Amino acid sequence: MQQSENQPAGIEIALWHYSKNERDWNRWMQSLSADERERAATYRFERDRASFVAGRYLLRRLLSVHSGELPGKILLSPDKHGKPRLEGRDTPQFSLANADGLVVVAVASGCDCVGIDCERADAEIEEAAWESYCSVNERHWLAQLPEHERARGAIALWTLKESHLKALGVGLREDPRNIAFSWKDGIPFMAGGDRDRRWHHRMVEGGSQHIVALTACSEAGLPGISTRIFQDDSMPSE
Ligand SMILES: CC(C)(COP(=O)(O)OP(=O)(O)OC[C@H]1O[C@@H](n2cnc3c(N)ncnc32)[C@H](O)[C@@H]1OP(=O)(O)O)[C@@H](O)C(=O)NCCC(=O)NCCS
Repeated sequence: MQQSENQPAGIEIALWHYSKNERDWNRWMQSLSADERERAATYRFERDRASFVAGRYLLRRLLSVHSGELPGKILLSPDKHGKPRLEGRDTPQFSLANADGLVVVAVASGCDCVGIDCERADAEIEEAAWESYCSVNERHWLAQLPEHERARGAIALWTLKESHLKALGVGLREDPRNIAFSWKDGIPFMAGGDRDRRWHHRMVEGGSQHIVALTACSEAGLPGISTRIFQDDSMPSE
């Protein structure tokens, strides 16, 4: 698995609106590791199982392109905080998110870390819940938005924070209020103090039903981002 070390800097984002049928399901399952298949079997709800399997299938397909390995041969294991890592190597960096029918994977070359998150655009976040994850300034920003834009603004902030915490690898162990965002010309950036120029945040076009946010850490600036809708064409997985 040497190929990705020579790859130019860039972030590839794939969005997949998967739908499950039996023939595809067997193929997706075949590309998973024994651990992943065991984990899939533990989900109580079929919807959650499908989401997990589709996510790992897409992740393996993308990492396969970078590494030259077959999807089923890629060795992944969780670190102590649960973030999946490639065994024996640090590149490429990657992150994965699921939200009700959509899986999104970001694979980054030339970045120290990357995080992605997606949520349904109609997710309900009560105003009373803003306090649990927003800074004071963010709450002011939300409150002054036109009423019809507030729900979307609240979800955008949540996805940005979660993508940042996933890039850091700590997830929601860290208080999301510790990372606050402002907006300039429609682009989010981390607010407060001396701006840390290694961190880059973007909202990603996720269609009308989902909101997607990306975080990348790179001293050399944000590399080019390519976003595509993944089409599942069959290929050997072992
Ligand atoms: C990481 C976390 C933010 C994911 O949020 P989520 O809304 O449940 O799920 P998402 O769809 O956004 O992301 C899931 C993916 O995040 C990744 N992930 C898991 N732990 C991660 C971590 N510490 N850092 C970065 N990414 C992580 C995995 O790839 C996972 O995909 P998988 O299910 O195929 O393993 C959340 O689970 C978390 O904070 N976990 C750590 C702390 C914890 O367990 N707290 C209990 C709940 S507060």
